[in-house]
Amino acid sequence: MNKDSLTITDNRTGKTYEIPVANDTVHATDLRQIKVKDDDFGMMTYDPSFMNTALCKSSITFIDGDKGILRYRGYPIEQLAEHCSYLEVSYLILHGELPTSAQLEQWTSEVKMHTFVHENIKRLMQGFRYDAHPMGMFVSTVAALSTFYPEAGDIFSEEKRRKQVLRLIGKVPTVAAFAYRNSTGMPYVYPDNDLTFTGNFLSMMFRAGSNRYKPHPVLEQALDKLFILHADHELNCSTTAMRNVGSSHVDPFSATAAAAAALYGPLHGGANEAVLRMLDHIGDISQIPAFIKGVKAGEGKLMGFGHRVYKNFDPRANVIKKLAEDVFEVTGRNPKLDIALELERIALQDDYFIKRKLYPNVDFYSGLIYQAIGFPVQMFPVLFAIPRTSGWIAHWQEMLNDAEQKIARPRQVYIGSPKRDFVPIEKRR
Ligand code: SDX
Repeated sequence: MNKDSLTITDNRTGKTYEIPVANDTVHATDLRQIKVKDDDFGMMTYDPSFMNTALCKSSITFIDGDKGILRYRGYPIEQLAEHCSYLEVSYLILHGELPTSAQLEQWTSEVKMHTFVHENIKRLMQGFRYDAHPMGMFVSTVAALSTFYPEAGDIFSEEKRRKQVLRLIGKVPTVAAFAYRNSTGMPYVYPDNDLTFTGNFLSMMFRAGSNRYKPHPVLEQALDKLFILHADHELNCSTTAMRNVGSSHVDPFSATAAAAAALYGPLHGGANEAVLRMLDHIGDISQIPAFIKGVKAGEGKLMGFGHRVYKNFDPRANVIKKLAEDVFEVTGRNPKLDIALELERIALQDDYFIKRKLYPNVDFYSGLIYQAIGFPVQMFPVLFAIPRTSGWIAHWQEMLNDAEQKIARPRQVYIGSPKRDFVPIEKRR
């Protein structure tokens, strides 16, 4: 028998259909032939939140949730985190191959050419309140960048598109740092391109006074590795937003702002901030049993736990746990680490979490490192957005070059009112 197809019998009509199978999927539009009446629209799939739907074919990132595997362009995340820099990985994600030293040098200097932002961007950001959330500032300012580069709308010009890609990767750290400086009332620090990509970001964040900022090498390297771990993750919520918004052929700055807005949510990139607030709320190891009891009673979630795809462990969490030790050797141990470790120990033994396959995800430990380096909790989602910009752009470009992709426009199952006639206001009850 061994045919790459499904044979479907519609018991409503007794008809049988042969539906081709490719990549272990059926093409949803092949179901439209299944009808009861000839003038029916035809069968659709119903899949709220895309629990079991492939949006696209992609060659960027591979995840195996059961085996805890994450690879960028085929390279295991553990090897990339150990041997590469973030800019090297952003080149890999965007171009499909690890760069030669000449290519990496060229890429690095091109990105560095685009770290400055127009002076009006400073004025725009100074319009936010002192206590504006930096992620809200980031989303708004990235969208505003689209107004500074009108040629960004010419998305099918390779040359113009490459320039916007470099602008986005080069400027997101600057926008991020300016958002932080605005919240502290400190003067903005301009990019120092003599530093590395990540060292320059730390300089724009923490430089005080006129002395040039010298990043601590251990902290600079730890943050660079965290950027690698956050660079892409296939069709997560924010990358799906990037693809869907980008499918209308809007410029990449506007699409990136939409993706960043999706990342802002506490169920997604906002989780790292929520984890620290949760650890603060728990306050002490002795309060963990009561907190777990509340979670199991549905009073809230164990933030930083669980994942739609990973059902055994998130390989990034393992790398981050090791990174934490390196950072704490320099900064001193974050006391919240003990609460996090005890929370993980208890949760991993508790049937509620085991049954639901809930394990620490990328956000459970990352915030402890960010806080130890000196970032305020509100900056954590912004730290996620900086590297994820490379992943968003790679998926955006892949979508534009995919002949099977058109403007995203899903269908619905209508369950509203049947046809009814207008009722004049005087007759309404
Ligand atoms: C990221 O998609 C990606 O790749 C995302 C990401 C990336 O790199 O882009 O990996 C980054 O967003 C990581 C996830 C960060 N979010 C959090 O840590 C927030 C807490 N986690 C959850 O909200 C949740 O686990 C999600 C959102 C991550 C996944 O949600 P799902 O797959 O929709 O699972 P679900 O909500 O249907 O949960 C299944 C069950 C439910 O219980 P029952 O209704 O069956 O009784 O597990 C429970 C949920 O209530 N559950 C949790 C829980 N997560 C799920 N219960 C307590 N604490 C949690 N954290």
